[in-house]
Amino acid sequence: MSSLISTLGMRKLLLTPLIILLLGCFTVTAQNSMVITADQPQSTISEHIYGQFSEHLGTGMYGGLWVGEDSEIPNTDGFRNDVIKALKELQVPNLRWPGGCFADEYNWRDGIGPRDERPVRINTHWGMVEEKNQVGTHEFMRLTELIDTEPYISANVGSGTPREMANWIEYMTFDGNSTLANLRRENGQEEAWEVKFWGIGNESWGCGGNMQPDYYADLFRRYATFAKDYSGNELYKIASGFSNENYGWTETVVEEAGAHMDAISLHYYTLPTGDWGNKGPSKDFGEDMYFSTLKRGLRMDEFVTQHSNRLDKFDPEKRITLAVDEWGVWTDPLEGTNPGFLQQQNSIRDALVASTTLDILNKHSDRVRIGNIAQTVNVLQAMVLTDGEQMLKTPTYHVFDFYTVHHNTKLLPLHLDAEQYEYEGENIPSISATASKSDDGTVNLTVTNLHASETKEVTADIRGVDLSSVSNARLLTGDAVDAINTFDNPDNVSPTDFNDYTLDGNNLTLRIPSKSVIVLRIN
Ligand code: AHR
Repeated sequence: MSSLISTLGMRKLLLTPLIILLLGCFTVTAQNSMVITADQPQSTISEHIYGQFSEHLGTGMYGGLWVGEDSEIPNTDGFRNDVIKALKELQVPNLRWPGGCFADEYNWRDGIGPRDERPVRINTHWGMVEEKNQVGTHEFMRLTELIDTEPYISANVGSGTPREMANWIEYMTFDGNSTLANLRRENGQEEAWEVKFWGIGNESWGCGGNMQPDYYADLFRRYATFAKDYSGNELYKIASGFSNENYGWTETVVEEAGAHMDAISLHYYTLPTGDWGNKGPSKDFGEDMYFSTLKRGLRMDEFVTQHSNRLDKFDPEKRITLAVDEWGVWTDPLEGTNPGFLQQQNSIRDALVASTTLDILNKHSDRVRIGNIAQTVNVLQAMVLTDGEQMLKTPTYHVFDFYTVHHNTKLLPLHLDAEQYEYEGENIPSISATASKSDDGTVNLTVTNLHASETKEVTADIRGVDLSSVSNARLLTGDAVDAINTFDNPDNVSPTDFNDYTLDGNNLTLRIPSKSVIVLRIN
């Protein structure tokens, strides 16, 4: 008898893990569900959240955008046609220029008049290379026309005077009779330009002058005083905010100078490792770098929330907006490139940092009205890469393309219950999403599955509207966590139609492949 009991006991001992294992195989993984309240639209998602940034840095401007009128690369007034076309299609709402750190060394007078007479300076921040000033105010403004975007000018506070800045504004925007306005006319631009976004200093706590917040707040008041509105042009003055979690800077600058500003900036770069000395690779990496990059990218939510809370103290009406005017993945430079040129590859991982960051900025669109990913061409997390006459669209480009559905729509409340994606004892949510409503009643949905290897089923209960059809459903994914586009295989990571969904009344069920982002419109 006792031996029978012990045999049974032993069998039970062996069978239990087997049963658990088998159950595990057949268990449907926990549901990912969202409830979208489509009849309660919230803040407007400003299209300006989807802005770009083109600094005089590496081949971002020279080679990437500007090749000169005599180049064999097809161009319009010196700007390459392939890049213009790609950016125009992306509906870029604003383009920040000329920096970055470069802005606080830039004298606008170097960039006007005959190009062959312009001075040669040294780009001390970015590789100590010659800056021949071939792209100046007139060329940049022509670029904004070509891609149909608004200029966002970043003015020099670090090494320039208030008079220099004031003169630049008059030169660009005054339509009456003044020596500066007439000089603009002599240089080929009869009409005054419209310029709204005007940054007063960049990273003034760092490369823009290493200032203390009190000192910068005073300088901001001074420079803002001389940043005049001419001829009906209205400047939207953007103060230099901090990076990451220095909330003290935001508090001091807004408390002391808030009355003179329309916005304050926030910069946040995602480093795969979190270590500036060894940032991590932009290609040929595994799930560890994939996971840690996504996890760090999601910290944008914490920074925007905390800076917004500080702003709420002084500005509960949310008059002063947050301009997240530099963000993106920053990796080690590509081997064999000038480290000062910040050249990196761009993978599906980076595309998912873009989609989840844009979800965060959309979610905070009551406070965040401007965003600028760094940077447009060939620098950091770029939209396009060029090599001589070749050009490719990066995975991040396609995310920005998907997210055009949210431009100037209303954010919809979205309650999301998502499974966790666990990697080596750490967790992040496996799903991120934005729902918005267009003026014509269309519901726009973008959903990201961050998990490296599991397809996720996501149900969406869309309340408060009558829905009958899905359109424009697209998917972006890669065959590996480090999938990239190369000049030999430029469409390796590119959009395809997305069909794995069902719409039953107002219940949408999506089956989203691992490491992917989808967009769809529901009518
Ligand atoms: O985008 C590259 C640099 O990062 C910018 O010039 C500067 O503002 C920031 O530190």
